[in-house]
Amino acid sequence: MAEVSLEGIVKDYGSYRAIHDVDLDVADGEFVVFVGPSGCGKSTLLRMIAGLEEISGGELTIGGRLVNEVEPRDRDVAMVFQDYALYPHMTIAENIGFGLRMRDWKKADIERKVKESARILQIDSLLERRPAQLSGGQRQRAAMGRAIVREPSVFLFDEPLSNLDAKLRVEMRTQIKRLHAMLGTTTIYVTHDQTEALTLADRVVVLDEGRVVQQGHPLELYERPNCRFVGEFIGSPQMNILDAIVDRTGDQTVLRVGATTVPIADLPLRNGAHVDVGIRPEHIYWAPRENCLLTPTVDVYEPLGSDTMAICDLEGQEITARLDPKVRIKPKQSICLSFDASNLHFFDSQDGSRIEPGLSTSLESSRNRAALD
Ligand SMILES: Nc1ncnc2c1ncn2[C@@H]1O[C@H](COP(=O)(O)OP(=O)(O)O)[C@@H](O)[C@H]1O
Ligand SMILES: [Mg+2]
Repeated sequence: MAEVSLEGIVKDYGSYRAIHDVDLDVADGEFVVFVGPSGCGKSTLLRMIAGLEEISGGELTIGGRLVNEVEPRDRDVAMVFQDYALYPHMTIAENIGFGLRMRDWKKADIERKVKESARILQIDSLLERRPAQLSGGQRQRAAMGRAIVREPSVFLFDEPLSNLDAKLRVEMRTQIKRLHAMLGTTTIYVTHDQTEALTLADRVVVLDEGRVVQQGHPLELYERPNCRFVGEFIGSPQMNILDAIVDRTGDQTVLRVGATTVPIADLPLRNGAHVDVGIRPEHIYWAPRENCLLTPTVDVYEPLGSDTMAICDLEGQEITARLDPKVRIKPKQSICLSFDASNLHFFDSQDGSRIEPGLSTSLESSRNRAALD
């Protein structure tokens, strides 16, 4: 096993800079997920770690060894690709054992290792088949078999589940997590799917346009996104963002969305400034009329059984609420919704950076004050 360290890593394709100065330390045994929209540089970064892409600048070390100039096969890493990359003319056993044959292992040892890996992945009954005779999920397992058989120091996965249907994707996700718990191998996993990232990772690294925008434990990113991009990217359904105006003319600071006003913690913004207010659908709840903070109009509702998604119009802005399924609503109905002020996120309306509210006049403290007065 090994730690992986990136220091000032840069990738240029001609005059186009695909990766900007990435610093990152992956601990021994850690499961790190790179997540971000298509084209943000996830594969480029992973391929540089694998040695499949030349590094334009910076230093890459694996297990304490500088590997910038080391051949892929000598880096002691194994990579699993989205398209499985199995040899069609070989059996599954031959595919899994290929890397060992290339390293001149003895036939009997290869056979033993292939069987052992196949058992772990529950494909031992398929070893004599060819890739074309397997389902997508089975092929994916075979590709993973080829990676684990070599007992590499580091696993690299590039969107390994993207070609599978939704149900299989969830199953394989659990398999990969189990495999990591069992083997404990340092893993770097690339995906554009935030759910996959949150469920698999010890640590999530969010990338945008070739830069790391935030990294942390999945819940840290969910609870405290450091910018609007991360707020909207992490979490499903997506965080609502409302364009609001800060009004500090009265006793308490309020946010105005059209004629709707919401009392808030003080913000380090001038009176009349615009601010992007984030609130997650699951943090909005149905409220009795007297405790209502928002009264939007239902546009579309989606009963999901476990909860009901209400996509509403709030003074010309869209807001989605995840409501209790027992709540009966219909389109065009005006509904009463509420939320806790502590669940609001504030982002600069220009650059999207997070703004921390002041604590002194927060809704909570004014409630507490009212209770004590
Ligand atoms: N071989 C290449 N030549 C030029 N540009 C490339 C090459 N490979 C990738 N890029 C560009 O680098 C950026 C990052 O690509 P990539 O790492 O594949 O993104 P992701 O895997 O996050 O979807 C994209 O803008 C892509 O067009
Ligand atoms: Mg990619």
